[in-house]
Amino acid sequence: MIKKCLFPAAGYGTRFLPATKAMPKEMLPIMAKPLIQYGVEEAVEAGMDIMAIITGRGKRAIEDHFDVSFELEHQIYGTPKEYLLHEIRDLINKCTFTYTRQIEMKGLGDAIYKGRVLIGDEPFAVLLADDLCTNEEGEGILAQMVKVYNKYRCSIVAVQEVPMDQVDKYGVVAGKSIDTDLIMVDTMVEKPDPKEAPSNLAIIGRYILTPDIFDLIKETKPGKGGEIQITDALMAQAKKGMVMAYKFKGRRFDCGSIDGFVEATNYFYEHSKRNDEKEKKQK
Ligand code: G1P
Repeated sequence: MIKKCLFPAAGYGTRFLPATKAMPKEMLPIMAKPLIQYGVEEAVEAGMDIMAIITGRGKRAIEDHFDVSFELEHQIYGTPKEYLLHEIRDLINKCTFTYTRQIEMKGLGDAIYKGRVLIGDEPFAVLLADDLCTNEEGEGILAQMVKVYNKYRCSIVAVQEVPMDQVDKYGVVAGKSIDTDLIMVDTMVEKPDPKEAPSNLAIIGRYILTPDIFDLIKETKPGKGGEIQITDALMAQAKKGMVMAYKFKGRRFDCGSIDGFVEATNYFYEHSKRNDEKEKKQK
C-alpha cells in the first residue's frame, strides 16, 4: 500500500513574479482552490493519507492552509459562507501533513532526497503541484499509477507525448512497449536538445518511487543545469532493475506557465458552470 505522497514545494516560482514574491506558487488558485490542494485531493483519491511537503523560506502559507483557522471559522460559523471551508476541513481531518525544508535549491532530485526523513523505507508518490492533472472519464492520475505499481512493484513515471520542439522542457523517456499505455524504460534524459531526444515522451509531475531511489539520488552527480536530477537517478534505477513509464488517461495543465495556468482556469471554470447547470436541471 502506498500511503505517503511527497510534494516538492520549495521552488521560487519566478515565472509568476511578482505574484510569488511573498506567496508560494503552490498557493496560486485555479478558481478558488490553491494548486497544492488539487494535488492533495488527487493523492487522497489514490489512497494516500500522509502528505510529506518539502518547503523552503517564504512557504509558511502552505502549512497554514492545511491547518484550522480558528478566528476565520468562528467568524463564519452559522453563516451561509460556512460551507466554503467544508472541503478543506475534510482534507485536514483525513490526512497527516508533515514538513521539512530544502535549504538550498539544488534540483528536484535533491528536494526528493530531503524527503527521505519523512518517507522512510517504503514506496511513495511524488506530485509536482504545478502540473495540474484531471481525468473527467474516471480515476485520477495517481490512482491509475497505483494500479500499475501494484502489478509491477517498481518505480513509475507518468508520461505524455509532447511536440518535438518542446522536449527540452522535460525529462524524456524511451524503451520497450509492454502494453498500449506502458513502456519499460531503457533511456531517460533530462531536458534534451530536440535533435538528440530519444522520443517525444515527456515525464510529467507524477511519480511512484521505490525507496532504493534515495541511495541512488545520493550517488547522482549534478546533471542538467548543475542540479541533482531525479531523471538521472531514475535512469540508474532503470539500469539496475526496472522503471516503467505510464501513458496516463486524462489531461495535464502546466500551471507553472502563464499559458497553462490560464488554460486550466478556463477549463475548470467551464467545467464548474456545466456542473451547476446540471444540478439546477435536476432540482
Ligand atoms: C521537472 C523534472 C522533469 C519533468 C518536469 C515535469 O522539471 O526535472 O524531468 O519532466 O518536472 O513537470 P521542472 O519543470 O521542475 O524544470
